[in-house]
Amino acid sequence: MQNTELKKLLESLSLEEKICQLLQVCGYYYEMEGVVTGPQNTAGFNEKEIANAGSVLGIAGAKRLKEIQKKYMAAQQHHIPLLFMADVINGYKTIFPIPLAQGCSFNPDMVKKAAGISAKESAAAGLHLTFSPMVDVVRDPRWGRVMESTGEDTYVNCVFAKAMVEGYQGTNGLNKKGKIAACVKHFAGYGAPMAGRDYNTVELSERTLRENYLPPYRAAIESGCSTAMTSFNTLDRIPSTANKKLMRDILRSEMGFDGVLISDWAAIEELINHGVAKAQIDAAKLAIEAGVDIDMMTTCYCRNLKKLIEDKIIDKALLDEAVFRVLQLKNSLGLFENPFKDADEEDEMAFVLCDEHRKFARKLASETMVLLKNEEILPLPKKGKKIAFIGPHTSHRWILGAWSIFGEEKDAVSLEQAIKEMEIENASFAAGCPILTSTENLEMAESSRTAIAEDNKNAKALLDEALLKAKEADIVVLSLGEHPSQSGEASSRVDLQLDAQQIELFNQIYNVNQNIAVVLFNGRPLILGEIFDKAKAVLEAWLPGTEGGNAVADILFGNENPSGKLTMSFPRHIGQIPIYYNEFKTGRPYHGDGGKYFSKYIDCPNSPLLPFGYGLSYTSFEISEVSLSRNSMTCQESIFASVRVKNTGKIAGKEVIQCYISDKVGSVARPVRELKAFQKIKLQPGEEKEVVFEITEKMLRFYTIDMEYKSEPGEFDVWIGNSSLTQNGQTFNLV
Ligand code: BGC
Repeated sequence: MQNTELKKLLESLSLEEKICQLLQVCGYYYEMEGVVTGPQNTAGFNEKEIANAGSVLGIAGAKRLKEIQKKYMAAQQHHIPLLFMADVINGYKTIFPIPLAQGCSFNPDMVKKAAGISAKESAAAGLHLTFSPMVDVVRDPRWGRVMESTGEDTYVNCVFAKAMVEGYQGTNGLNKKGKIAACVKHFAGYGAPMAGRDYNTVELSERTLRENYLPPYRAAIESGCSTAMTSFNTLDRIPSTANKKLMRDILRSEMGFDGVLISDWAAIEELINHGVAKAQIDAAKLAIEAGVDIDMMTTCYCRNLKKLIEDKIIDKALLDEAVFRVLQLKNSLGLFENPFKDADEEDEMAFVLCDEHRKFARKLASETMVLLKNEEILPLPKKGKKIAFIGPHTSHRWILGAWSIFGEEKDAVSLEQAIKEMEIENASFAAGCPILTSTENLEMAESSRTAIAEDNKNAKALLDEALLKAKEADIVVLSLGEHPSQSGEASSRVDLQLDAQQIELFNQIYNVNQNIAVVLFNGRPLILGEIFDKAKAVLEAWLPGTEGGNAVADILFGNENPSGKLTMSFPRHIGQIPIYYNEFKTGRPYHGDGGKYFSKYIDCPNSPLLPFGYGLSYTSFEISEVSLSRNSMTCQESIFASVRVKNTGKIAGKEVIQCYISDKVGSVARPVRELKAFQKIKLQPGEEKEVVFEITEKMLRFYTIDMEYKSEPGEFDVWIGNSSLTQNGQTFNLV
């Protein structure tokens, strides 16, 4: 439809009809036989509101959504279709590793492809939009939602924001088959809640907000992301959903975002809890004035906008503007021409969890895993040794992650299943202990709760069996970690150690067999303590998705060579949090050489256990000194910084070559270093490649003392290496 026709359509709508377009309700209200208005309807919508809402969230399935759309269209006087949105975060049915793991792949091409597969499956299942990517920069692993971000670094989040948006939306129009709209979230700063507690206050200086937190949202928008979501938090004491400066000035004017802005779940009504609105009507006024188009799951807009307009408290133009954006989104998806878009039962059957998607999920999962330690125990031999696979993550399929709402455990491959299919000789299996001592305060499927309770009842027997198998074995592969319900939304933790029974299991096994390779399944960096010191190898597998077991087996037995790098630092101690590599220079920096009055702890080093950018391989790489094409440049020029990288080991492998820059003197304190670029390269044994990074003036910009975003002339260090600790550097000047 042309814009002029859309405008006409808008004009033909009554005030009530317009307001309906801004309401989003939960899909489960739409039962086949009618609508849910009983006790399940917690937000208290009436039947009419549900029947006329402009969009729906959280349900999928071609048959079901077609049915709902058909009924809806039959009653829709203006032929305006319903929009179906949902959280397809790390996959629809084919579940990929959690986003934090995807970041660790340092492979945006593969992540883009995964988003493309998610879009293809979701579109066939009738969805039009996913609430992804989540690009909140995260520096506090106590926060459960770090699993949804690609980590602590601004640049890494920018790269993956682009990759995901392009993967979901494609570049030829949302109406193309297999494409869905993306929604960048949570605008803004949601990743920095105080004390790591979800939904808590965020306090960021404007400089930090702009320099470290906003760029990934901008990257998504510049990649064409069609919608954005507000965040639950306050910024400078103003809740995002009511923050005019943030939404109108920064998001819309500065970043040029002209798509639909949706509130997070009930965030408009929560303005009352924040204490900035007295009642629903005040909350509705604040949100619409801030530029929030869709009200997710409250009656604030649908019950109050009419009165606000009729009483001339708000301008009708605010409503028209919001409704028009919703109509434009529906139009760009091609829904006026075909309200069902790609919903198709046959396609759904053919695409969902098809071999090709599973195969790719397996590849991506192994690409995301990070080898944290290896004292020549991995890769394991396929025959000739007795290997005991022990631990609560060995046979349970708790590997999809908290946001895989359409993924099913039954479709996932456990490690035990994978090992059996690989026909590894002399493998034995034992759970060893329950994954958790208590499931209190955790939301999980009843089947999980029952299994955990059962394991707790049999704890002694599980341990005895594991010890027996460990004793008999040459090598123990110990699969430990979190249950997926321990990370994700509303899953903040103050203790980031493994459950006590898992630590006990490790220690008991260590007493009988010290050849232990630990595999970790978790949604955040953990405090690994003695386990890290004592284990011979530690592989971070994250929550690896449907093909997780196969991917872990591929790495353990050397079918794949690990190549992931951490995108979040692993602290030594909870007291170091928040911890991130690109911290700012201080007046009393500590270099580990003694002395009291320095910026340090008296009971723990400053450094993390494992830094950003770190990860091992089964082969080894040699990186030459950095060579610069010139030692100084003007703003119009650039410098090429290069290294030669050689695979000095016996097998092919991939390495992530990372380029960090530090501004030696600035008008404000600058980070000790910042990642500015990376390249992931593959080298055969003995092969050597040159890796070149172009340093431009743009990469040197920051918010100066006058809050201008620009570079300042002076000296810079550039380091190129394979982790954020690299000291392989050179100096250059910007003149
Ligand atoms: C989350 C969002 C999510 C929304 C819809 C909220 O609770 O914060 O990230 O997209 O629910 O499910």
